[in-house]
Amino acid sequence: MNNIHSKKSGSLVCVGLGMMLGAHLTPSSRSHIEQADIIFSSGNSGFIDVWLKTINSNVISLQECYQQGKSRRQSYQEMTELLLTAVRQEKKVVAAFYGHPGVFVSPSHQAIKQAQVEGYFAKMEPGISAEDCLVADCGLDPGSLGWACFEATQFLRFERRIDTSAYLVLWQVGVVGDSTLTQFSTSPSYRALLVEVLTEHYPQNHPIILYQAPRLAIEKTRIDKMPLIDFINAEVNQCTTMIITPANKLKVNKIMTDKLQKLERQRQAPKLSTIT
Ligand SMILES: C[S@@+](CC[C@H](N)C(=O)[O-])C[C@H]1O[C@@H](n2cnc3c(N)ncnc32)[C@H](O)[C@@H]1O
Repeated sequence: MNNIHSKKSGSLVCVGLGMMLGAHLTPSSRSHIEQADIIFSSGNSGFIDVWLKTINSNVISLQECYQQGKSRRQSYQEMTELLLTAVRQEKKVVAAFYGHPGVFVSPSHQAIKQAQVEGYFAKMEPGISAEDCLVADCGLDPGSLGWACFEATQFLRFERRIDTSAYLVLWQVGVVGDSTLTQFSTSPSYRALLVEVLTEHYPQNHPIILYQAPRLAIEKTRIDKMPLIDFINAEVNQCTTMIITPANKLKVNKIMTDKLQKLERQRQAPKLSTIT
C-alpha cells in the first residue's frame, strides 16, 4: 500500500527513463528527479548518469553493484539496501531505471514493498519499456493475435504452455541459460538449448526477429529477421529481445462460440418482440 499520509519524511519513487536517452522521460518522472535529494541510477550506460546530472546533480550510480562472476541476485539485494538506507535517512529518494522500472527489474519492486512495510511513501512511475518500442518499431499489435512474454532462462528451465497461435516474446536471450545470474553473455551451446525447446513447437526455419531499440538518437534500430535455427550463431547481447511470430492459425472454440451466439440471440429477442 502506498503510504500517502506517511508522517515519515523519507520517500522512494522508482522512475523509468524509457529506452532512448532524453526522449522518453515522462513529465511526472522528470519532476520527481528534479525534486529528489538523491537519485540512484541503474543506467546501463555512462551517458545516462551524465544526462541525469543535467536535471539534478545528486546522482549516484548503482552500476558498481554489478561485477562479472558476482550473482545479480546479490547485486539486486545490494541495490535494494542502498535505496532503503537513504530512505531511512529521511531522504527523498528517486531510483532511475532504464525502460520501465518494473519490467524485468527486481530491486524496484523489492525496495518499494519494503519501504511501504516500514511506513514510508513509496511508489513506481511507469516508463517506456523495450517491449513498447518493439511494438512501435516492428509494427506488431499484441491485441491482434495475443502475446506471451517470458524471461528466456525461466522459459528454458520450466515447462511452459506455448500458444503457437500468439506472438512469443523472450527477454534476456543474450544470457539465456545462465541460472547462476553471474554471466554477461552465454555461448551458442546455451542458445542451442533454447532452439531445442522451441523446435518442439516451431519448425527450424520458422521466422523470428531479434530486436534492439536504439538507446541514443544516433543509434540504429535492430530488426533482424531470421530462421529460428540461425539464432544459435546470431549476434546477441544484453539488449537483445526475441520475437517469434505465430506459427498456427487461431482455432475456434466451438462450444463458447455457440454459447455466445445463444446469449446474443437472447439479448436481441426482447427488442425483436417490441418491434413486432
Ligand atoms: C533486465 S531487463 C530490463 C528491461 C527494462 N526494464 C525495460 O523496461 O525494457 C533486460 C532485457 O530487456 C531487453 N532490452 C534491454 N534493452 C533493450 C533494447 N535496447 N532493445 C530491446 N530490448 C532490450 C532485453 O531482452 C534485455 O535482456
